[in-house]
Amino acid sequence: MMQKNHQKRFSFEDIQERKNADTPLVCLTSYTAPMTKILDPHCDILLVGDSLGMVVYGMENTLGVTLDMMINHGKAVVNASKNAFILIDMPYGTYEEGPEQAYISAKRIMNETSCQAVKLEGGAHMKKTIELLTERNIPVMAHIGLKPQSVVREGGYKVKGKTDQEISELLTDAKEVEKAGAFAILIEGTVEHASSKITSSVNIPTIGIGASPTCDGQVLVTDDMLGIITEHTPKFVKQYADLAHEIDEAASQYAKDVKNRSFPGKDHVYKGKA
Ligand code: KIV
Repeated sequence: MMQKNHQKRFSFEDIQERKNADTPLVCLTSYTAPMTKILDPHCDILLVGDSLGMVVYGMENTLGVTLDMMINHGKAVVNASKNAFILIDMPYGTYEEGPEQAYISAKRIMNETSCQAVKLEGGAHMKKTIELLTERNIPVMAHIGLKPQSVVREGGYKVKGKTDQEISELLTDAKEVEKAGAFAILIEGTVEHASSKITSSVNIPTIGIGASPTCDGQVLVTDDMLGIITEHTPKFVKQYADLAHEIDEAASQYAKDVKNRSFPGKDHVYKGKA
């Protein structure tokens, strides 16, 4: 039976229509149900990013994130949302062996979470993988520019597109992933001139993080923009709140109240017959 008042999620087609649109796509990361409920009405896309390795699990980088972690957090985000398009990262080691390995991993993500699409890191060398996933009806967003899963091999987080050679490689990456069937491209940590060239060279939307306003959309790691993660704030992050400070003050007040017995107060106590 058709459900009444069923709110339609932001779709794959809605994303594609925002290429060169006046209003950029709005995307944030989300990993849990409570945060998803708050973010969902404001976002076109919610990304269950493998940044959760660092943000939620305190890892040094994203390389230790597993498929099970992505699937568990993905389920929470899908269950708690009704508006946004839900995109889930393929974690390191679950797709690099080749298209068939990628298909088995992506199929698990799609089947077990009911998300709308997956994202994987890579450009031209991921062409065959993107082709196979797309052919088998798994929408893929390609992540180019600074690729956090390559951070150990590259010796750190390095901004891309600084040389003509890098710009030319990025343009090849973008064109090849588009040709392979990617429905959108995430560009991370890339200089404005290069991001702008990529965005104007492809017919699919680009979503930038540290990649300038020339992209068709923007994404940030939510915990960065809320000021929950404060140890290292990249240049491209705008902090919209200072929640670490607010949480610290709330926890400090709670500790004082417990110690001086002003919490629990009479309003927080169940009364029964004496
Ligand atoms: O994992 C993640 O959060 C990402 C960011 C670049 C948005 O991919």
